[in-house]
Amino acid sequence: MKDLISITDLTTEALQGLIDKAQDLIADPGKYCEKCKGKKLATLFFEPSTRTRLSFEAAMLELGGSVLGFSEAGSSSASKGESVADTAQTISCYADIIAMRHPKEGAPLVAAQAACVPVINAGDGGHNHPTQTLTDLLTIYREKGRLTKLKIGFCGDLKFGRTVHSLITAMARYQGNSFVLISPEELRVPGYIRKDTLDRNGLSYKETDNWNDMPDLDILYMTRVQRERFFNEADYLRLRDAFILTTDRLADAKGELCILHPLPRVNEIERAVDRDERAAYFRQVLNGKYIRMALILKLLGID
Ligand code: NCD
Repeated sequence: MKDLISITDLTTEALQGLIDKAQDLIADPGKYCEKCKGKKLATLFFEPSTRTRLSFEAAMLELGGSVLGFSEAGSSSASKGESVADTAQTISCYADIIAMRHPKEGAPLVAAQAACVPVINAGDGGHNHPTQTLTDLLTIYREKGRLTKLKIGFCGDLKFGRTVHSLITAMARYQGNSFVLISPEELRVPGYIRKDTLDRNGLSYKETDNWNDMPDLDILYMTRVQRERFFNEADYLRLRDAFILTTDRLADAKGELCILHPLPRVNEIERAVDRDERAAYFRQVLNGKYIRMALILKLLGID
């Protein structure tokens, strides 16, 4: 495997290998602090980011490597009309590995085909976000001790939320998982996720527009309504407050519920929820750095 474009590029064994490596990185970071000495990571971000870009950069720095890149399309030659393929081929001359975020679905795949170094999809439009999924899997594994037999609620913008699409695809591979898809009717998961992932694999799932399943959930994955992907502001304003998680809502949830969110949060989780031990989203942020360290090592062929 040269690149990571979709979570399906990794076998279940490879996923477990990354989780195990991340656990070792957490336990013994000193062992890895010079592993990427002399290596460079380029972060090519054509869309805003805080966690993904900075966790990639922190990951490479903690491995002893260095980083270069840009954080907005306007400061790159894309603004002069350069193609993604040409940009990727160019950066291959400067860096050993590339992490790319782009508003157009498929752009990182195009980059991977043109680059002679590994390319990681750091989010492409409303499509995929495989490294957030690696973060989510590591977090679920550390919080719950397993990736199987879990009832997972996804709540919010399931249509445009790329983290949701990648995580459903990943969790569908593990035995005994079931899904509750909580959203307004207009923001349900895209047809290809329903048909190609959920229906084709005969998975147990339910689409709903209410919180009634809360008491049965093992995991609640909250998401932001993705304002930038709406075609008109009025629809966004109408839908943005449809599901807000409050401490009252959690009254009948399991004591061991694990609440996740890829962040950034707008208002879909009330701040008071942060004090609840079940809120794991800031632990999730830290896990994101370690799993990206594991991924960089893997793609560079370093043990
Ligand atoms: C997510 C993204 O960019 O898709 N954020 C992230 O990478 N942690 C979620 C979002 O923007 O809502």
